[in-house]
Amino acid sequence: GEGYFTYDPGFVSTASCESKITYIDGGKGVLLHRGYPIEQLAEESDFLEACFLLLYGELPTKEEKEKFTTNVRRHTMVNDQMSTFFKGFRRDAHPMAIMCGVVGALSAFYHDSLDISDENHREISAIRLMAKMPTLAAMTYKYTIGQPFMYPRNDLTYSENFLYMMFGNPCEEYKVNPILAKAMDTIFLLHADHEQNASTSTVRLAGSTGANPFACISAGIAALWGPSHGGANEAVLEMLNEIGDESRVDECVARAKDKNDPFRLMGFGHRVYKNFDPRARVMKKVADEVLGELGIDDPLLKIATRLEKIALEDDYFIEKKLYPNVDFYSGIILKALGIPTSMFTVIFALGRTPGWIAHWNEMHKDNSRIGRPRQLYTGPAQRDFVPLDKR
Ligand code: SDX
Repeated sequence: GEGYFTYDPGFVSTASCESKITYIDGGKGVLLHRGYPIEQLAEESDFLEACFLLLYGELPTKEEKEKFTTNVRRHTMVNDQMSTFFKGFRRDAHPMAIMCGVVGALSAFYHDSLDISDENHREISAIRLMAKMPTLAAMTYKYTIGQPFMYPRNDLTYSENFLYMMFGNPCEEYKVNPILAKAMDTIFLLHADHEQNASTSTVRLAGSTGANPFACISAGIAALWGPSHGGANEAVLEMLNEIGDESRVDECVARAKDKNDPFRLMGFGHRVYKNFDPRARVMKKVADEVLGELGIDDPLLKIATRLEKIALEDDYFIEKKLYPNVDFYSGIILKALGIPTSMFTVIFALGRTPGWIAHWNEMHKDNSRIGRPRQLYTGPAQRDFVPLDKR
């Protein structure tokens, strides 16, 4: 890099690529997007501004922000034929299964006219994905509850529009709740990018073959779905419901330490952070604010707070350097926004979309070669074929 960050040679040899987008110091719990701390972006910025920063490398001027916002708004509708894809799914299909399908299907509408070596084509793909992902996510939710799809509204902000498409209906006027919209926007922002996590690495690897961006983002959605990754936010709510009461927290912490017990504290631990995930701190603050402003007394927040306290004082978690991660509190906020648990990882995918696209675009700008991870072979040495009658 520009000499601000130095890496020990051992780390450099394990790095899969170079990138200018996001910096993480797992030991210190530092997360920077193009050099800006996540805490400042969460406090001072908004999701579309953070998207611009990730995609173009700088915070937008007033004019740039207005132009970017208008461009995104102009592409929020999807081709009406897209709605037929939903009809093939069962109503009780997991929303992430539907999102993998319908986002990949966007390839069928844009692939032929796309030259990914052309920066302008890559930019319009980024704008289209930023614009259409919330529309497809809301359509996914509406399909699973048997309500009509809501068309996007260009008089609303990005997050207001998403909540409108999720919870509005044609029979009554929708009232924007600025508290909910701001909380939604902050959740999107906190998920916007996170360096070479599993789903972003999936998008980069798929993109390195020259695959179109819509198919690459669909691959990222599939990777994110796993409970060890983005699926953890859904698993945290299930875990908190399973704990059920503050009095059972100690028992569950003991189970999480028992190697013979498959129970793990979902929302705890991280491949990189061996300190507090800075996003978890902001998420906890937003959870307290939103539930306070909405006057919600959610027992799950009390269980989560006690779980965090007990775990952070426990020698096992201290020794293993296990701290709450981004997924630990997000579900409590999403529940307060009225979003069903099954949609939690879809929300993560919406937030991560700018990060996936920024990395996909950076790889093409750097003319990266096709990704081809190598392995250590531990199978049998060469041997001759044995005919069937001799086996
Ligand atoms: C995300 O990579 C990213 O950046 C991801 C992400 C992003 O923004 O893209 O940050 C989003 O995916 C966050 C992580 C969400 N997943 C969960 O919350 C699921 C629960 N966490 C674990 O499954 C686990 O911590 C992982 C998968 C996140 C990390 O896996 P590791 O690297 O195997 O775990 P670790 O290095 O943190 O574990 C060290 C030790 C291990 O024990 P030993 O083998 O050393 O004896 O701690 C144990 C683990 O078994 N451990 C846990 C635990 N997590 C790890 N024990 C109990 N409860 C847990 N949650």
